[in-house]
Amino acid sequence: MTMAGNFPGTRMRRMRRDDFSRRLMRESVLTADDFIYPVFVLEGEGRIEKVVSMPGVERQSIDVLLLTAARAVKLGIPALALFPVIDAPLKSLGAEEAYNPQGLVPRAVRALKQAFPELGVITDVALDPYTSHGQDGLIDDSGYVLNDETLDVLVRQALCHAEAGADVVAPSDMMDGRVGRIREALERNGQIHTRILAYSAKYASSFYGPFRDAVGSAGNLGKGNKYTYQMDPANGDEALREVALDIEEGADMVMVKPGMPYLDIVRRVKDEFGVPTYAYQVSGEYAMIKAAAQNGWLDERAVVLESLLAFKRAGADGILTYFALDAAEYLKG
Ligand code: PBG
Repeated sequence: MTMAGNFPGTRMRRMRRDDFSRRLMRESVLTADDFIYPVFVLEGEGRIEKVVSMPGVERQSIDVLLLTAARAVKLGIPALALFPVIDAPLKSLGAEEAYNPQGLVPRAVRALKQAFPELGVITDVALDPYTSHGQDGLIDDSGYVLNDETLDVLVRQALCHAEAGADVVAPSDMMDGRVGRIREALERNGQIHTRILAYSAKYASSFYGPFRDAVGSAGNLGKGNKYTYQMDPANGDEALREVALDIEEGADMVMVKPGMPYLDIVRRVKDEFGVPTYAYQVSGEYAMIKAAAQNGWLDERAVVLESLLAFKRAGADGILTYFALDAAEYLKG
């Protein structure tokens, strides 16, 4: 029934009239438990560098990172995701620094786990911070990113992180077969508790621009692109195939990235597989919201919380977001 007499048969606005009934029928909730906080770490002591294209985000040396981690713990944020800024002389064609047990990431992991054993530490498994050309894998003479040769390095990198104490390794490289190879190596080496968060549906997105500035890989990559391994933004069915493969190969958690423009993919993945599903509100999404807020064009607090709630509504179990600390503060207030 749509109309009865002169009045609407159904009044959707009745439930929206008062705060109590709006609260009673609210379908999604956002809490600090939903956040993973991505952080940029660099060498040195007492070092803080602003990331120009991401106002409010800083690269931090390990000692400063520990202060940030303390804030995250206090706010109830479950986990940090570490991204290293590797000094140029350590970058190479073979990305050897990626599996140096004394490298920046393993040292940061050890410091974090020692200071905050209960805080989850997630590390990125990909070679782009370590290669002189800024690609996520090893390349041949034509510049093509080699799959199977890259896998050998990724396995060493993942093991190195796990041995340093990383709770979760997150392959973000999009090579074929990496999850299976990493899982097998972790099992064989007794790292049976290390979780794998697979960047399963990772798109070749222009929204990663500010991140590449933050880790300093933009200059190395130059005019290069990642089209031969990251997914085409036009595709949805292919994302489901990627997720299916990663689950089969041993992923504990899967991710869709970027976030806001890809919420349809989050929903499809969650509906199809029902596994722990995460989304990454990436650097470009952060930069857009920040820029508009700084111009007074958007209400930052309201828009941040709305954008994060939308991930929950789409089916995400958690969100990697540079707004994690701010959002957790807002939710407390
Ligand atoms: C690299 C990596 C990227 C991001 C996370 N890991 C960039 C890329 O693939 O070029 C992007 C995150 C962001 O934009 O916030 N493997």
